[in-house]
Amino acid sequence: MSAFLSDAGALSIGAGVVTAVTAAAATYYLSTRPEPNVLPTIDLNDQAVVLEDGTRLSRFIKDGKLMKNLYDDVKTLYDAFQRGMKISGDEPCLGTRTGPNLEYQWMTYKEVFENSRAFGSALLARGLKPNDSSFIGIYSVNRPEWVFTEQACSMFSMVSVPLYDSLGPDACKFIIKQGDIGYVVCDTAQKTRNLLAKADQCPSLKCIIMMETPSEELTTQASKCKVDLVQFSDFLELGKKNLKEPMPPKESDLATVCYTSGTTGDPKGVMLTHANLISNMSAVAKTALMAISVNSNDVHISYLPLAHMFERGMQIICFMHGCRIGFFRGDVKLLTDDMQALKPTLFITVPRLLNRIYDRIVNSVQGSALKSKLLEWAVKAKTKEVESFIVRKDSIWDKLVFGKVQKLLGGRVKIVITGSAPLEAKVFNFIRAAFGCVVMEGYGQTEATAGITFSIAGDPSTGHVGCPLPCCKVKLVDVPEMGYYAKDNKGEICSYSPSTFIGYFKNEEKTKETIDDDGWLHTGDIGQWLPNGTLKIIDRKKNIFKLSQGEYIATEKIENCYGRSQFVAQAFVDGNSLKNNVVGIIVPDPEVMPGWAEKEGISPDMTELCKNKKVKEMIFKDIVRIGKEAGLKTFEQVANITLYPELFSLENNLLTPTFKNKRPVLRKKFQSVIDDLYAEIEK
Ligand SMILES: *[C@@H]1O[C@H](CO)[C@@H](O)[C@H](O)[C@H]1NC(C)=O
Ligand SMILES: *[C@@H]1O[C@H](CO)[C@@H](O)[C@H](O)[C@H]1NC(C)=O
Ligand SMILES: *[C@@H]1O[C@H](CO)[C@@H](O)[C@H](O)[C@H]1NC(C)=O
Repeated sequence: MSAFLSDAGALSIGAGVVTAVTAAAATYYLSTRPEPNVLPTIDLNDQAVVLEDGTRLSRFIKDGKLMKNLYDDVKTLYDAFQRGMKISGDEPCLGTRTGPNLEYQWMTYKEVFENSRAFGSALLARGLKPNDSSFIGIYSVNRPEWVFTEQACSMFSMVSVPLYDSLGPDACKFIIKQGDIGYVVCDTAQKTRNLLAKADQCPSLKCIIMMETPSEELTTQASKCKVDLVQFSDFLELGKKNLKEPMPPKESDLATVCYTSGTTGDPKGVMLTHANLISNMSAVAKTALMAISVNSNDVHISYLPLAHMFERGMQIICFMHGCRIGFFRGDVKLLTDDMQALKPTLFITVPRLLNRIYDRIVNSVQGSALKSKLLEWAVKAKTKEVESFIVRKDSIWDKLVFGKVQKLLGGRVKIVITGSAPLEAKVFNFIRAAFGCVVMEGYGQTEATAGITFSIAGDPSTGHVGCPLPCCKVKLVDVPEMGYYAKDNKGEICSYSPSTFIGYFKNEEKTKETIDDDGWLHTGDIGQWLPNGTLKIIDRKKNIFKLSQGEYIATEKIENCYGRSQFVAQAFVDGNSLKNNVVGIIVPDPEVMPGWAEKEGISPDMTELCKNKKVKEMIFKDIVRIGKEAGLKTFEQVANITLYPELFSLENNLLTPTFKNKRPVLRKKFQSVIDDLYAEIEK
């Protein structure tokens, strides 16, 4: 080529040669560029059906009837597993890994079924009734016994009630009492001890079935509390000696009570039936399966808490299709190591984790202008491809730039579904480029069995949460006090669907506040219809307060913004209507800060550097700068901050299972710090 160009004579030969060369180049490009492989199945400029009253419907339902199930033979969780067993009976179902450098060990669908059946038979042998007034508590990280317990419940028409780790012992006590729960399945000695400590206040608690081997001391403690402590494996043996035929539920039966911890006061038990679960999972599966196909070779990595519907929904979809589920080792820090061993093809996640991946990669190239430029080009080029509906991992950019990231995830991920909070457009585009797979975003809440809207496969755009799922009608309702009106296509998001929960357990009043007389679920989120039929989340009724000067503050938005600073791992922003500005608690990034501090001659110890005035000023300046760039108004910016050295986590009860800030708990914990910050400002 260069030889040709340097031959001045060639240019004078005339237009014919130039045309020929151009044509050859174009042919070369076209023959090497792959065909579009993820084409949307509807018009992206017109994604929802608009009814006369402004309600929107999915384009995937033809007769106006909301979707209840994807497969005629799958109406309950029991059916879902049965379908998987027909497809993959002798194929792997659940996998675990006991240490580093070890392969996953697998149990087949039939084996899982037999274990679940034995477990359920043991419950019956102990006198539990096969109907939906039998509640079984599950207090454990994700592992096979969790699945056996849940499958046993659906096989024998009982109800599973997850006790979240992060709800803490008091909430567990509340749930056990409210649900009159006699049997709790528990993973560790520590959790068993937590429960026993409250046993005198939980008269219904009869039996704890523990996965680990109970120590003698624990057994003694249990018998003092008049609680029967049984090992899970012994329970299975009991069931095997008393095997019963399955007694499956009806679709209208209660399947689970899922407690949510979001707001102040006691947790609320969201009651979900089999029909709720199946309609939502079917709708999600239908939408996702337009982009990818799944079979017995597909693998899901299970690490988001099973106590939350997002992960459970995904597992139901996996069982329905005979896919494999591999469990992480119970520690998020080991997740990428587990993923490299498992090589999952399905990956569900939350923005918090994607944001961290993004931050880490962007920060890793910051020292080098060349690397930064390369990354920028790579993202641009791959984004262009996504916009042409080409999704792949084998471009030159994948080889040069993104291969390492993909390898971290095992190298085979073909779909990522993110949910539980909106993902920033910049991060969304980056993840699409870097992962080289289909990335979809869902919006929903537990009360809707998780899903309300979902992005369409092949939609390359960001900044919205897709269009109504085929199981939902969605409308926006005026919120005059915040200035949102349906006539402007803005308002509180309300959904009508077979997946809407049937009520809060023993809480009529809250149920009435949430589901109106016509059956519409009021989400508390504020949405906006975009002209192409997609929904954008713009605000929240919850976590919103007015400052004293009358300006509305959405603290989550501010926190998300500050989280973009490379120095910030987490942020909690608070204020109230008595004040005219907000203040923040900032957790500096433990991976970035020590290095920075050392260069500045400051102690790299996190506790030490959090006390350092220079560090505080530096971080304060950085977040305010980022806030300004992102368009935060002056009154939205923190007026002062405190640095806190310990990450908010599930374990210290400062995060919800979906990794959102637990506001009431954080507020209580930092109340005196917040008061001090205000005192300083007002001085
Ligand atoms: C469940 O079975 C028990 C015992 O047969 C019975 O007392 C109870 O009323 C049943 N509950 C429901 C909801 O059917
Ligand atoms: C839908 O509309 C929004 C807002 O106008 C835009 O950002 C997005 O790119 C659009 N999506 C498509 C697929 O055109
Ligand atoms: C922020 O608070 C610290 C003490 O916590 C105080 O020394 C400082 O002056 C405050 N800054 C502002 C801008 O009020």
